[in-house]
Amino acid sequence: MFNLSELGIPIIQAPMAGGINNPRLASEVSNAGGVGSFGFSYSTPQKISEDLAATRALTNGPINANFFVFSAVDLPAQAVQQKALEALKNLPIEGEYSLSIPQAPFYPDLEEQLIPVWEHCPEILTFHFGIPSLSIIEKAHSLGIAVGITATSFKEAKAIEKAGADFIVAQGIEAGGHRGIFNPDGIDEKLTAIDLTRLLVKGCSIPVVAAGAIMDGADIASALKSGAVAAQLGTAFLCCEESGASPAHKEYLLKHHGRGSVFTTGFSGRPARGINNEFIRLMEGKMVLPFPLQNTMTATLRQLAGRTNNGEYQSLWAGQDYASTRQLSAKNLMLALKEELLLARPL
Ligand SMILES: Cc1cc2nc3c(=O)[nH]c(=O)nc-3n(C[C@H](O)[C@H](O)[C@H](O)COP(=O)(O)O)c2cc1C
Repeated sequence: MFNLSELGIPIIQAPMAGGINNPRLASEVSNAGGVGSFGFSYSTPQKISEDLAATRALTNGPINANFFVFSAVDLPAQAVQQKALEALKNLPIEGEYSLSIPQAPFYPDLEEQLIPVWEHCPEILTFHFGIPSLSIIEKAHSLGIAVGITATSFKEAKAIEKAGADFIVAQGIEAGGHRGIFNPDGIDEKLTAIDLTRLLVKGCSIPVVAAGAIMDGADIASALKSGAVAAQLGTAFLCCEESGASPAHKEYLLKHHGRGSVFTTGFSGRPARGINNEFIRLMEGKMVLPFPLQNTMTATLRQLAGRTNNGEYQSLWAGQDYASTRQLSAKNLMLALKEELLLARPL
């Protein structure tokens, strides 16, 4: 079974759904001694199979396949549906977009998505938003695949440990993208990556990976000092040449530093941290459908914004320290991170 403590460099390039991860990015990170990941949240089994095969052809290093654990969801009452639909109508964006209420099935079947994972056997399988069925964890173990699950609190981490996972991804409140909290309607303790990592290292018996605003080697050194076995970096990789982030996403990360990053449920129905833009501001206090129905309903709007390179209506997911994002190849970013880590934490 793959063990994170054996990594050449203790870095996991975060799984990032939405076309950002690809075989080139993942294999460059993996070949440089880290873990290359895929956020397969909404991907079809065919796409998952193609990506895993293409990546394996480019690296023998560790690959991580990541999935969302969706909770059962129903369409809310008609009045709520209409209010959520109204909130998205007539937004001041140039171009036409159509809107409709999503139809079931509302999310992909995890068991079907995992078929190509069992065929291609990436070294690591991770989950966001919850714990998958125990049979999935057992199946992964029978194939020698290590399982990791995101936690945002001590309580979630203890449940992950009890389920038999091999490591915990401690996601701090600074982290970009969707907050992995199991119940978004419950209380969020909003712990930072370092505070959460310390808490979990003390109280859990499995390794902990720190995630959230880790942008350079000194940040990685702090995570390791807190007891983490590795650091998971998302935003740091978004402006790599190989990253599939949209041109507007890259531009805002590099140039729009005064905006800051904020949480919104407007794009998907679940809290996610991204660069503050017009859509987020206009959606404040508006009705949204539950996750992932809101995500489906905003798809046409986001696609229009992508086609017209309009950053004001795209989900520009980014962590709190996105101003430190560097525009390098993945290989050079890994080299820089390694050098900085050695400086901050001599062997
Ligand atoms: C664009 C983007 C997409 C993300 N998508 C996923 C995902 O599909 N699955 C997942 O487990 N985490 C996802 N995350 C969260 C990361 O795993 C990680 O917690 C986060 O990137 C760490 O904070 P940082 O972005 O400041 O490094 C995403 C993050 C970003 C920035």
